[in-house]
Amino acid sequence: MHRPLKQTDHPGYTYVCECKQMVGKRWLSLLLLVFVLVGISTDLLREAPAASSNISKSSSARIPVNPQGGEQRDGSKSREYKGIPLKANLSVCHASFSDADRPVYCCPAWKDADQTLLDFEFPDPSSPVRIRRPAHLVDEEFVAKYERAVGIMKQIPPDHPHNFWRQANMHCLYCTGAYDQMNSSALFKIHRSWLFFPWHRAFIYFHERILGKIMGDDTFALPYWSWDTPEGMWFPDIYRKGALNETERDAIHLREAAVDDFDYVDHDLASDAQIADNLAFMYHQMISGAKKPELFMGCKLQSGVEGWCDGPGTIEAAPHNTLHSWVGNRYNPERENMGAFYSAARDEVFFAHHSNIDRMWTVWKKLHGDKPEFVDQEWLESEFTFYDENVRLRRVKVRDVLNIDKLRYRYEDIDMPWLAARPKPSVHPKIARDILRKRNGEGVLRMPGETDGSQLSEDGSWTLDKTITVRVDRPRINRTRQEKEEEEEILLVYGIDTKRSRFVKFDVFINAVDKTVLSPKSREFAGTFVNLHHVSRTKSHEDGGVGSKMKSHLKLGVSELLEDLEADEDDSIWVTLVPRGGTGVNTTVDGVRIDYMK
Ligand SMILES: *[C@@H]1O[C@H](CO)[C@@H](O)[C@H](O)[C@H]1NC(C)=O
Ligand SMILES: *[C@@H]1O[C@H](CO)[C@@H](O)[C@H](O)[C@H]1NC(C)=O
Ligand SMILES: *[C@@H]1O[C@H](CO)[C@@H](O)[C@H](O)[C@H]1NC(C)=O
Ligand SMILES: *[C@@H]1O[C@H](CO)[C@@H](O)[C@H](O)[C@H]1NC(C)=O
Ligand SMILES: *[C@@H]1O[C@H](CO)[C@@H](O)[C@H](O)[C@H]1NC(C)=O
Ligand SMILES: *[C@@H]1O[C@H](CO)[C@@H](O)[C@H](O)[C@H]1NC(C)=O
Repeated sequence: MHRPLKQTDHPGYTYVCECKQMVGKRWLSLLLLVFVLVGISTDLLREAPAASSNISKSSSARIPVNPQGGEQRDGSKSREYKGIPLKANLSVCHASFSDADRPVYCCPAWKDADQTLLDFEFPDPSSPVRIRRPAHLVDEEFVAKYERAVGIMKQIPPDHPHNFWRQANMHCLYCTGAYDQMNSSALFKIHRSWLFFPWHRAFIYFHERILGKIMGDDTFALPYWSWDTPEGMWFPDIYRKGALNETERDAIHLREAAVDDFDYVDHDLASDAQIADNLAFMYHQMISGAKKPELFMGCKLQSGVEGWCDGPGTIEAAPHNTLHSWVGNRYNPERENMGAFYSAARDEVFFAHHSNIDRMWTVWKKLHGDKPEFVDQEWLESEFTFYDENVRLRRVKVRDVLNIDKLRYRYEDIDMPWLAARPKPSVHPKIARDILRKRNGEGVLRMPGETDGSQLSEDGSWTLDKTITVRVDRPRINRTRQEKEEEEEILLVYGIDTKRSRFVKFDVFINAVDKTVLSPKSREFAGTFVNLHHVSRTKSHEDGGVGSKMKSHLKLGVSELLEDLEADEDDSIWVTLVPRGGTGVNTTVDGVRIDYMK
């Protein structure tokens, strides 16, 4: 059934590259050759291959999720970290589940385990450096070339690794858990942990090189969607053209006038106000909320089910997640394409979005003196596999992708006004603290029109159907600058249980007295929890088909924010959780406490 891809499987197809390994029908290749040679728009080719991943139409086939099936990482009794790097077991690619727990199948027609797996090789140091430019600044000639190459990619036979939808399915494979980890029944997944940045860097690196190969241009570089800058806060127009266009997008959000809403609250701010919000948000996600590698990169996922963690870094939570949902078509069950992991990379704008995510990693690293993110073999030696531009399967380790100079690309510099967008308190801190002190002692603090504490569920967790405010003790106060640099104060929202597989978002504020003025623009904003539908299946179907569902936590760095709120000498703070978008009815939280992170 499965057999290795052989050179002889791939006749012809030399128009794009020297790769002789193309699967598929000779006539199609010849036809394409003709089209490319005479420069006819690939729009004319009507018979695009269907997406080679599918989602089952019958939702009744859904496998129930056992809410008790998993153990919360904090406090789990039997932790047996194997202390070995993560690696996918390529010998079995199996059906998996979308974020909303619907069955998906995104495995290739061939078996990667049968392919020759080669070590990653850095590009020749004398090869040109590819310069990724902001999507709104690239010229027409570039767009025409890019659009044509993507068009060709869409015409490559579906059982070829360079086919556009096969590329998209690489994302599906590693985000829905189509592979198990080696020597384990734990699924291999690359979101919501420290694998997020390195995996995506490698993924778009190869996508870029494949496109370059198709164009015959070894300087081709993916554009980046510079949503962190005011000029880039609109959906990039070039992705509305030809093969770069996509039907499954949100028509309302993609109105020409709409500024991206990182916070995803749909409060219809005027452009200027939205831009100011976004800049303050970026400041928070990149600077004050991301002082430690784990806060920025995500939690330390270790091998085996016991090493599972679920804690995305600041940027992955938002704007990464929120912009995925913002672009996806709201009338699709999971906001496909961009709004769901399994389908996100079927929209080419995915690559511009992730170029900017990747760029944010380079910026953050520079802000932190180019120090290594983690000196940890389990991270550095974790590995992924990708097909390169010559259709060779490559083993890429995290350590291979840490230096983009060696990968021969870089980002064109642009102004980053968010660096200086440090937010101000919405209410003067002295006034706020006076008001808050008067409310002290009530256990659960109420703001007008809010919860009366009846949100406590039977097991003692809070349901996030309304705003919740609680008082949280601080074990240490008045720490010295040095102590703060060594250990960041963390606000830990733990035991987050998103029972229903839906988009869930809530914002966290500290010492807020007037929730009507709360937004990321106020210094009281401590961070956000964002879930794209998401059921945290961690085990493969070997456990009888019942997926494990684990609670997650949110770690927010708050040292700088507490100083700005003049709360550093207080032995307690008030924490407000604000559900966004009315999706909190099935979300519960076990508690909130202060922690410290090295
Ligand atoms: C669709 O999914 C089924 C399994 O659910 C699989 O057998 C089939 O090959 C898939 N089709 C494609 C085109 O991937
Ligand atoms: C899997 O287990 C085998 C046998 O114990 C061992 O040799 C191998 O290194 C393990 N591989 C991984 C990736 O854990
Ligand atoms: C990979 O998966 C196959 C099939 O489940 C299994 O037989 C094999 O032991 C696994 N290999 C490792 C190293 O886990
Ligand atoms: C892009 O796709 C949308 C949705 O199908 C369509 O309305 C629009 O006209 C397309 N734009 C272009 C420039 O083709
Ligand atoms: C905190 O430190 C400042 C000066 O460093 C000092 O004046 C103040 O009394 C201290 N507050 C507490 C509660 O220890
Ligand atoms: C979600 O909340 C609704 C309304 O409170 C409730 O009827 C339903 O049972 C909940 N679903 C789950 C899976 O908890």
